[in-house]
Amino acid sequence: MSSFKIAVFVSGNGSNLQSLIDTKKISNEHSLDIAVVFSNNKDALALKRAEKNNIPFFTLDPNEFNSREDFDEAIIDKLKIFDFNLLVLAGYMRILSEKFIEEYENKIINLHPSLLPKYPGLNTHEKIIKNKEIYHGATVHFVDSGLDTGQIIGFSKFEVKNYDLELLEQKVHELEHKLLPLICSLIKNGEIKFIDRSLTISGQNYINGKEFIF
Ligand code: GRF
Repeated sequence: MSSFKIAVFVSGNGSNLQSLIDTKKISNEHSLDIAVVFSNNKDALALKRAEKNNIPFFTLDPNEFNSREDFDEAIIDKLKIFDFNLLVLAGYMRILSEKFIEEYENKIINLHPSLLPKYPGLNTHEKIIKNKEIYHGATVHFVDSGLDTGQIIGFSKFEVKNYDLELLEQKVHELEHKLLPLICSLIKNGEIKFIDRSLTISGQNYINGKEFIF
């Protein structure tokens, strides 16, 4: 058995955290061990999901720190007692400081609800509706110091048939719940490599990430 473990950062509902937890239900090469869950929001439902599944978790309140750097340093400090190989931002609604990104260089991935590089930032579903986009989807990428700008690992898309906010959100979530666990397990199994800014998946080179079709 591999000892590959992930840390997961969350801010809210945590349905994507749940999809990572649920990989344990089908114990095979895709199952993931979660070392720790962190949230900047002590009321996040995601924390209840961690608790219910006996996963260690902790929270810190950004309002109790003078700067983003101080807050992130406190997180780094707390994370020291946990052993993990990959840090997954699954609905973590804060920008990370440069210091934090350097600390875990090329080990942080983020899940984003749009087909990057289109629509970084917030309110992606609203923007899809406003611009009557034909396609929408989700992207997983390595985190660098820009806003949703790091190397794209993979994405999954669908054709928009109905410009309804709730439906779009639901559809993106459905894809996310498959895409994120799959990409984490491919990293765990050494299928995804990101060396010298070059991404390979199962030995093939990808410049703009791989499309995953579910
Ligand atoms: C997801 O859509 C993710 O892409 C975005 O925030 C949402 C989190 O959903 N960054 P949940 O908390 O995992 O349910």
